[in-house]
Amino acid sequence: MEHAPRGQWKSKVGFIMAASGSAIGLGNIVFFSANAYRFGAGAFYIPYLIALFVMGVPVMMLELGLGHRARRGFPEAMYGVAGIKGEWVGWFCLLNAAVITMYYITILGGVLGMWIGAFGSLWQGHAVPAFGLAEGTLSNSMSYFFNMISRYDTIAYVVIVWFLNGLIVWWGTKSIEKSVKVFVPLMWIFMIVLIVRGLTLPHGTNGLMLLFTPDFEVMKNPVVWQGAFSQIFFTLSLGFGIMATYASYLPKDSDQTSNAFTISFLNCSFEYIAGLAIFSLLFCFAVVPNASTLSMTFFVIPEGLGAFPVGAQLFGILFYTLLLTAGLTSSVSLVEALGAGVIDKFGVGRRPTVIAICLLGLVGSTFFALPKVIDGSLANDGTLGLTLLDLFDHWAFSYGLLLCGLLECIFVGWILGADKLRESINTTSRIQLNRSFDVLIRFVIPAVILTILGFSVWSEVNSGGPYGWNFEFGAHPNLHIVVLAVWIIFTACGAMLLTAAGVYQRKRKRERGSLLDGVEG
Ligand code: PHE
Repeated sequence: MEHAPRGQWKSKVGFIMAASGSAIGLGNIVFFSANAYRFGAGAFYIPYLIALFVMGVPVMMLELGLGHRARRGFPEAMYGVAGIKGEWVGWFCLLNAAVITMYYITILGGVLGMWIGAFGSLWQGHAVPAFGLAEGTLSNSMSYFFNMISRYDTIAYVVIVWFLNGLIVWWGTKSIEKSVKVFVPLMWIFMIVLIVRGLTLPHGTNGLMLLFTPDFEVMKNPVVWQGAFSQIFFTLSLGFGIMATYASYLPKDSDQTSNAFTISFLNCSFEYIAGLAIFSLLFCFAVVPNASTLSMTFFVIPEGLGAFPVGAQLFGILFYTLLLTAGLTSSVSLVEALGAGVIDKFGVGRRPTVIAICLLGLVGSTFFALPKVIDGSLANDGTLGLTLLDLFDHWAFSYGLLLCGLLECIFVGWILGADKLRESINTTSRIQLNRSFDVLIRFVIPAVILTILGFSVWSEVNSGGPYGWNFEFGAHPNLHIVVLAVWIIFTACGAMLLTAAGVYQRKRKRERGSLLDGVEG
């Protein structure tokens, strides 16, 4: 089949901005701070840094090297590694990432709602009729938030965010490059303004004290290690097939080792300074995050901002603009990765592919925005949408991403041969990788991931796990089983279906080929 010409980044800066824009997202600004707070503040940096060097940077090199070598979308790059089994892994990673992106975009829809609120009503108290709460029962931002999620407004916000995603990937690398050149520098500027504001507030350094007074006890807890390793995958956009896709648009002679270092460095330094900003903003008003990640974004932070002596509104708008831009440059990367997978594999046009992905994604995101109240006491997540979000996050994030990383390492390490990929990376790289890369990919990383996954399953079964098997969701006690089944069907079976379609297409192509031979003969 004839393939339309593939996109290519106009400049190296464009690629670095797009890839670091994908990496820098809500993960860096909110999830990191919430995790750091939950997992022993400063002490979290230790497992985090270990995870970065043992796993983050090598897997980043693997994904970049793979995409660059194949110059095709992720499923086909994986086909090149291990035939149809590899192709299945490629689709599985993309579909798992699609689940994450669906709820990620619902969260971004919520961020858009908060951004609108920041112009006024976020700072006022509201009654929350859906939960039967009178005005003044909840803090201002909490009442705004629960009002928002218990009405259909969020779905409209989600539609807008999907539309923006579609628009940005409409012309492929061309439009992505243009948008990241505006968004990524803006993100850095906004973040620096927030840090300066945070640190110059009275007692602004209190938060830093907490960040730099590590509680080493927590490192004995395996959950902290699981948190650090999942966080590294998520924050670097690894296991999504994104980095491979973005690298497939690079010129043939580009240097993947240095790209991997640059992207990881930009991402992690942004995460580090975001930690400084958030901790200093919050703790100078003694708003102690009792830290579910979402509560941090949606009410702990606006409470801190609302207590500003001057400029609460301005900084509120600034903060949510920052989140929106950071989130958009991440979500578009996945839409592009999925799109490239489909376009390269099936030879369909970009426009219909983008429209189909956005519409299907919108359906998923809408489920996560369902306003039906299932937990009026607010003991858990309140609405059906938010509950689904939490449950899918449990599988797609805590298990799915690590599983994708594991499969990538095993397939590349053992079937293709880590040394083969290393040689191909080395031919165009200034810094030469040595054998330790092979050892990491073949032994160390799989062993680490297997240990973490094994532990997770064990604690899931034994102690009821984070969202445990005994957990009752209001009127829906079996929801978690349903969610697990849907996740497996969507990712594993979906990948099987797409791989089968690929096999069928190859067969047809071969038949057509031999038919032509016959005619010519
Ligand atoms: N790296 C992103 C972040 O830290 C995660 C992400 C990428 C989520 C792409 C969705 C799509 O926020």
